[in-house]
Amino acid sequence: MGKIFVEGVGEVQEYVDVCDYAVGLSRMIGGPILPSERPGHALIEQWNPVGLVGIITAFNFPVAVYGWNSAIAMICGNACLWKGAPTTSLISVAVTKIIAKVLEDNKVPGAICSLACGGAEIGTAMARDERMDLLSFTGSTKVGKQVALMVQERFGRSLLELGGNNAIIVFEDADLNLVIPSALFAAVGTAGQRCTTARRLFLHENIHDEVVAKLAKAYAQVRIGDPWDSDTLYGPLHTKEAVKMYLDAVEQAKQQGGSVVCGGKVINRPGNYVEPTIVTGLPHNAPIVHTETFAPILYVLKFKVEEEVFTWNNEVKQGLSSSIFTKDLGRIFRWLGPKGSDCGIVNVNIPTSGAEIGGAFGGEKHTGGGRESGSDSWKLYMRRSTCTINYSKDLPLAQGIKFQ
Ligand code: UN1
Repeated sequence: MGKIFVEGVGEVQEYVDVCDYAVGLSRMIGGPILPSERPGHALIEQWNPVGLVGIITAFNFPVAVYGWNSAIAMICGNACLWKGAPTTSLISVAVTKIIAKVLEDNKVPGAICSLACGGAEIGTAMARDERMDLLSFTGSTKVGKQVALMVQERFGRSLLELGGNNAIIVFEDADLNLVIPSALFAAVGTAGQRCTTARRLFLHENIHDEVVAKLAKAYAQVRIGDPWDSDTLYGPLHTKEAVKMYLDAVEQAKQQGGSVVCGGKVINRPGNYVEPTIVTGLPHNAPIVHTETFAPILYVLKFKVEEEVFTWNNEVKQGLSSSIFTKDLGRIFRWLGPKGSDCGIVNVNIPTSGAEIGGAFGGEKHTGGGRESGSDSWKLYMRRSTCTINYSKDLPLAQGIKFQ
C-alpha cells in the first residue's frame, strides 16, 4: 500500500503477536459461575462461537487488522470470510494462502479462512447476508455508517472501527525530548494514513513557538524516498485520490485562517508523494480541524488551561485515540477519568498511534464503538448463553413467586 518497509514488517509482526496472544487466550476463555438465589440451582455463563465472521478491512493496514480479527475469531471457534481493500488484493491473496497452509498442515480445511476480493458490491452483499453472524468493518465513518445500518436492518451484529481525529496535548511541564519524536511518528508515520494518526497538536501557549520550531526542524530531516529503501522514513500516499484530498485540505486550512509552516505541496517525483505538512493559527473548532483527512497534515493549536483543552480534545465527532504529555500526576489521572479524554485509547507521554495488540483497540462516538484485538474483545466474536441448571427435586421460582 506504499508504507515503508519497517512499518510493513511491523504490521506482519502484529499478526504474529496476535496469533501468540490468541493461542494463549484459547485456554482462558471462561464464563463465571454466579450465585443463584434458588436453592439447588447453578447459574453459569457459556460462550459459544457466533459462526461466520465477515471481516472487511482497509488499505492502510492490509495485514494487521485482518490478523486481529481472524486470530481472535478462530480461537473463538468461528470461520472467517475476508474482504480486503480492492487496492491491496495481492496482500489479501498472499495472507490467505499462508493461513490456508497452516490450517491444512493442521488437518483442518483452509476454507475456514476464506477470501472474497472486490469492492463495495461484495461489502454490501456481506452486510446484507443473514449468514454473516458478525460483520467486522474497518474503514471510513461514512461507509461504516452504511454498513452498520444494513447489518442492523437484519438485526445482525457489527463491530465497527471507523475514523479518528486524534489529538496530542502538550503541557508546559512536558519532556520535549519525548514530544518531538512522538508527534513526528504519530503525524508523519505511514504518511498520515493511520486511523490513529495525530491530526491535532495542542500546545500550551508558553511552549507553542518553541515546539513548532523544533518540530519543523524534525520535519525537514524526514528522509523521503522509496519505501523499500531501509533508510526511508516517509513514502507516498496510497492513491491519486488521496493526493487530491490532501491538496483540498491544505487549501481549506489556508482559507480558514491557517498558516502553512512547512509542507503543503505535491513532491515532484514519480508516485503519490506529498510533503508532510504543519499548519498553525487555526481556531480549535475550524471545520477543517474537525475533519479527518487521511493525509500527513498536522494542525497545531494553542491552549491556555487544562479544562479547555480536554474539552477541545473531546469536541470532535470521532473518539479513537488521544495523548497528553505531562509530568503532573493529578493531571494524568484527570485525563484518564470521567472529565478527561472520551476516546477508546487514552495515552500519556506516548504517541496516539502504535498501539500494542494486548489491549482492546477501538474508539467511541463516530469511531463506531467496536473493540478488536486484546483484553476482552473476544466477547464480541462469541454469543453468551446464561444457563440455569436445576439439580434439585424442587421448582422454586425466582423473585420468590408462588405459582400454585
Ligand atoms: C489502523 O490505522 O487502522 O495503533 C490501525 C496503531 C496500529 C494499528 C492502526 N497498531 O497505530
